[in-house]
Amino acid sequence: MANKDVTDPARMEKIVSLCKRRGFIFQAGEIYGGLNGCWDYGPLGAELKRNLKDYWWRKTVQERDDVLGMDGAILTHQDVLKASGHVDGFNDPMSECPLTKARLRADQVPAASPGTEFTFLGATDEASGKSTDKPISILIPEGKQEPERSAEKLASQFYRELLGAGSKPVVGARDSQPGPVKGALYNPDNGVRLSEPRSFDLMLSTKLGALAADNDPKALAYLRPETAQSIFCQYKNILDSNRVKLPFGIAQMGKSFRNEINPRNYTFRSREFEQMEIEYFCHPKDGLRLTDEWLEARLTFYGEIGIPREKLHILDIPDGERAFYSQKTYDIEYEFPFGIQELEGVAYRTDYDLGVHEKGSGKSQLYFDEETKEKFLPHVVEPSAGCDRTVLALLCEAFDEETLTDEKGKDDSRTVLRFVPRMAPIKVGIFPLLKKNEEQVRICKEIQKTLQPWMNVFYDDGGAVGRRYRRQDEIGTPFCVTVDFDTLGEENPDLKGTVTIRHRDSMEQERLPVSGLLAWLLERVR
Ligand code: GAP
Repeated sequence: MANKDVTDPARMEKIVSLCKRRGFIFQAGEIYGGLNGCWDYGPLGAELKRNLKDYWWRKTVQERDDVLGMDGAILTHQDVLKASGHVDGFNDPMSECPLTKARLRADQVPAASPGTEFTFLGATDEASGKSTDKPISILIPEGKQEPERSAEKLASQFYRELLGAGSKPVVGARDSQPGPVKGALYNPDNGVRLSEPRSFDLMLSTKLGALAADNDPKALAYLRPETAQSIFCQYKNILDSNRVKLPFGIAQMGKSFRNEINPRNYTFRSREFEQMEIEYFCHPKDGLRLTDEWLEARLTFYGEIGIPREKLHILDIPDGERAFYSQKTYDIEYEFPFGIQELEGVAYRTDYDLGVHEKGSGKSQLYFDEETKEKFLPHVVEPSAGCDRTVLALLCEAFDEETLTDEKGKDDSRTVLRFVPRMAPIKVGIFPLLKKNEEQVRICKEIQKTLQPWMNVFYDDGGAVGRRYRRQDEIGTPFCVTVDFDTLGEENPDLKGTVTIRHRDSMEQERLPVSGLLAWLLERVR
């Protein structure tokens, strides 16, 4: 098992920088200072994400007889989320730093190192006579020089804020004790003791329709926090309109919204993100077996998109840590450069979801088995993946820097995104050897026209061919086609009508007839 604490911030920085430089991902609202937790995908990022979603749909819906697709509304009826438990229970514990006002997710605050906790009980500004008796506690780690002075400096900062700019607070009574104090949380940036956690609602709401003008509570609607709920609510309609039998699944991909307290790790934890979810309905006796089968199917999927099995970790969530209704939950985790983190959950949710919607709506969700004449509430197995997280995993997995030695023995380096061809945003670069050679350019344009209905290609005639290869390597294009003098048959008539294909990873080249190019590529990029 790899160490969860091993991180590589330098690698992550390079990936983030490449994504901006080459147009994969930008911060939303960047020119206005950025909208925290929201991201815009640029041209290459949009293609990468589309390839992932298309492949997920193909493997999950198109190539299976037992899964149907749906595309539900993002705006969600408040009663749906009341019944599901989100309105009352979809929250995270939040603590605040009294000094910086930073708000942190209390369950993710790292444990503090041992030291001394100093508590200050108030301060006075002698010039104005203003005073405050608000306490503040600060943990100074062991080994720090003049710990009391360090704590007092931070406390003065805190009281200056309270007593007004320009004030010179004289810090009052203080106390000290060994820390961290049991049960207390400290800001990892400054050691200040955080406020007691309070519950923070993660749902984003809006007001719908003309009733919104009067702030009528009936106008309240939510931006869905997961795609799953519309699947549960439409299960009966889909069952009745499609003549399907258990076991069968409903798949949906699309945007979800959560007002995360601390969006972080680039796109990993965002406030607006896409999910790819399957709710697989089954007989209660099959739930546990199907959970294991879905886990295997999902691991195979990750392998097929270029995330190797050895970089994935399966967490079998123990009893007592799962949601109360779940009989089995696996988290599929990936070794991101910022640590091992969840990509997807595969959860056996029993009949909880259909049960709460049956109760909430008063509409029967029972399934009638024609063969056994049995009537029951189906159980659900849910493989729920994050699309943006998987895109991030694809980028992290693909990123590579390589040192090469040229024919003259000179060292050179290249940056490569080693996407599997089916995920690569652009499948082929098409280059004329000489941009001034009209015939080479004409053939390139013809190849471009032939390939474009089938895949994304990029025509490039700028600079030396070597440089053009590097530009494609950096965005992960698996193949480059060069039309040269041999294509024109000028030196060797046997080579007329052939082109050079250069492979991104091995950098090896081979010649192929132009007429066979499309079939050759299709075999490799699907
Ligand atoms: N229906 C079950 C459900 O939504 P979840 O574990 O909350 O379960 C499923 O979410 C997946 O959605 C996660 O494994 C993750 O990949 C993705 N996800 C959840 N919250 C996210 C966020 N704030 N940003 C990006 N992806 C997120």
